[in-house]
Amino acid sequence: MTTRILTGITTTGTPHLGNYAGAIRPAIVASRAADADSFYFLADYHALIKCDDPARIQRSRLEIAATWLACGLDVNKATFYRQSDIPEIPELCWLLTCVAGKGLLNRAHAYKASVDKNIEQGEDPDAGITMGLFSYPVLMAADILMFNAHKVPVGRDQIQHVEMARDIGQRFNHLFGQGRELFTLPEAVIEEEVATLPGLDGRKMSKSYDNTIPLFGSAKQLKDAIARIVTDSRLPGEAKDPDNSHLFTLFQAFATPAQQAEFRAELLAGLAWGEAKQRLFQLLDNELGEARERYHALIERPADLEDILLEGAAKARKTATPFLGELREAVGLRSFRSQAQSGEAGKKKAAKSARFVSFRDEDGSFRFRLLDAAGEQLLLSRSFADGKAAGQASKRLQSGEALDVREQGEGFGLWLDGELVGESPAFADAAARDAGIARLREALAPQE
Ligand code: TRP
Repeated sequence: MTTRILTGITTTGTPHLGNYAGAIRPAIVASRAADADSFYFLADYHALIKCDDPARIQRSRLEIAATWLACGLDVNKATFYRQSDIPEIPELCWLLTCVAGKGLLNRAHAYKASVDKNIEQGEDPDAGITMGLFSYPVLMAADILMFNAHKVPVGRDQIQHVEMARDIGQRFNHLFGQGRELFTLPEAVIEEEVATLPGLDGRKMSKSYDNTIPLFGSAKQLKDAIARIVTDSRLPGEAKDPDNSHLFTLFQAFATPAQQAEFRAELLAGLAWGEAKQRLFQLLDNELGEARERYHALIERPADLEDILLEGAAKARKTATPFLGELREAVGLRSFRSQAQSGEAGKKKAAKSARFVSFRDEDGSFRFRLLDAAGEQLLLSRSFADGKAAGQASKRLQSGEALDVREQGEGFGLWLDGELVGESPAFADAAARDAGIARLREALAPQE
């Protein structure tokens, strides 16, 4: 069983060292596990909630994309995309909005904090609060549920949102699943041992405290930032207390146990703070130097980044498009064409409850799917330029004429008049494929 890991990065800023240690590095490590199927994306629709500066949104998307790639994310293994390249997400967001309780969203921390602040300042409770902010957790639920994520690595402030995604998904399953789990219910994962880095002043490293160390600035910028780390006033030669020094905490987050032990001993022996900063600089420069070069090379080639992200989006939509088709079906947004078909199928004792589902593809073409009684996809048709041709093809398949099924590796193709009309998904092995062919034949067998 693979575990689907999914997380989003809001594109409003430039990644700093704290983001790297707390989110980027662990996520990339996790994506390399053999059983991991990771979906990492730029939450650029979410960015619009917090930021109305188009130049900053655009810059941040580019920088964050380049950062993840430079840090070694393998886009052949993970699926890496921009939220705004997946139109199924806002569509799903609406379906979820229609089942999400307003009372549930009233309780969201981010919204509540804004209301509290307004009240405190004697303003109208909802002053300056957009529907984007209010519905933020529903969009996040759509991000997560769209891909049936099992695990969602997030910061503590986001746990509530993942729980809301569970609630909303559960409610949708209950209303529309007919006993089936349409959505996998996600779980938040908080990496306990991941470092929350202190910033220059010792508070948590955060853009809002203006205490960050840039991740991919020049070596000089890195050095300058490190020079601004606040230390106590002990002189060279005086023993330093590593456990009360955030400079040491920063060092620890990137050093091997042996390096940590050595640095600790040196501090206790009176290493000057200036020297200590030089040690930290060396350590970070070693860790980040190569990635920094890759980062700058990528930033210079935005068109290549665009291609990589569009490929990621296409990969993500291979899952999202058919799944949204099922969800539309489930809530009753169905083609009238399949209505006629299921009417006929109904006459044939519900054709053992296999059913055709037609839908329009992202490029506007018409396709259909054949689902077996359990709702598993048996066949996905090729694209048809018009709905009528698609309708005729699915009708032919139900006409009881002999089927031309051809094995294709671990799957099969179905042919009509020497033309491929549809293909099965890839099955786990040849036996599963043969069982799939049997179910297809049963589903399309002429009824007595
Ligand atoms: N709201 C998250 C944050 O600010 C980003 C995000 C958007 C996200 N969609 C998501 C995280 C889905 C995990 C899953 O950190």
